[in-house]
Amino acid sequence: MEYINNELRLGPLKKDLLSLCANYVRPIYVYDLDFVSQRYQAMAKALGKTRLFYAVKANPHVQILATLKKLGAGADVVSLGEIKRALESGFSVHDIVYSGVGKTRHEISEALKLGIYQINVESLPELQRIGDIARELKKTAAVALRLNPDIDIKTHPYIATGLKDNKFGMELSLIPELSATLKKYSDSVELVGVSLHLGSMMMEFTGYQEALGILKKVYVDLQKQFPTLKRFDFGGGVGIFYDRLDLQREESLLSDYAKITNEILGDLGCELQSEPGRWLVGHCGVLITQVQYIKKTSAKNFIVVDAGMNHLIRPSLYQADHLVMPLIKRSGEIRGDVVGPICESADFFVKEGVFSEVHENDFIAIMDSGAYGYSMASVYNLQELPLEICI
Ligand SMILES: Cc1ncc(COP(=O)(O)O)c(C=O)c1O
Repeated sequence: MEYINNELRLGPLKKDLLSLCANYVRPIYVYDLDFVSQRYQAMAKALGKTRLFYAVKANPHVQILATLKKLGAGADVVSLGEIKRALESGFSVHDIVYSGVGKTRHEISEALKLGIYQINVESLPELQRIGDIARELKKTAAVALRLNPDIDIKTHPYIATGLKDNKFGMELSLIPELSATLKKYSDSVELVGVSLHLGSMMMEFTGYQEALGILKKVYVDLQKQFPTLKRFDFGGGVGIFYDRLDLQREESLLSDYAKITNEILGDLGCELQSEPGRWLVGHCGVLITQVQYIKKTSAKNFIVVDAGMNHLIRPSLYQADHLVMPLIKRSGEIRGDVVGPICESADFFVKEGVFSEVHENDFIAIMDSGAYGYSMASVYNLQELPLEICI
């Protein structure tokens, strides 16, 4: 991200953003597809033979999905809606891993009829439900067990998923019962994988390393009982910097992550899978919004914009720090909060920030909004959803 002649440009190709605002009507998410390709290629290279299943929840835009499919990605989905979106965007059923703690009977039945490549099971009753439905349909469900090793990756509590008080995955103590259930359903369920996902925004890998070591032993033991077991899905969750753009440092963290993964899992001789979301698309999108008012009070300045927490909830929900950059850089400076129109005091993008000066009607970009932006948007206060443009 940089300014050329005081105009903000997006991505490594320094794409123009200002011209996209010529007929501005409401906030716009802009996604740079070349940037997405570049991130995918960097990750694919770092992780070597690992098959990458893009976590569709991060950003389900059809063009992003189609771009990633063309580059060789699979899709990691968590609902029938995401399965349909992935299929619409060019993925085949053989590209889809289906995760999620709350799969309904209808969703499981549709996934089985379609012949989805792998279902990541999150609980014992889910395994039983899959077994029963597959039996009824005379299908064989290819399942991976998502295991929860109770390990802390030191991330925001709302995005940690590998601790025992999280709803995700299954405790290791459940393995004997899971094995017995898999045997009971041997006519309708085939164990193909072990899966792990410890959470999102992982910026250091001690917990991850420990978890892999534990699950490796589990994999080896399970394989003795279930020779069909052949895949190890080591999850997504590698973080990105929101407070600065430092792609080089991110690639170096990624290479540490790859090294740990290969050192621990390399000799298993199994297929490796991962489910990255944020790392692939986070930096590739920005949310453009227009300044409505500069409201000065005795306490502070409020830069009131037309995007709100309903368009990008990350600052309100996770206290995420997104950089805010005016599309045109002016010479002065302004200090204050960037807030939206929603009737909640949690409706802010930045608290007490310092920016280059902005005026009413100026456009500003909320950076690094390509992941968990539009996909978490709502129409709260009956505000319209933002527009989306791929460049
Ligand atoms: C099961 C699973 N896989 C993958 C992801 C993607 O995580 P990230 O976007 O942090 O890579 C998530 C996100 O929460 C998830 O729950």
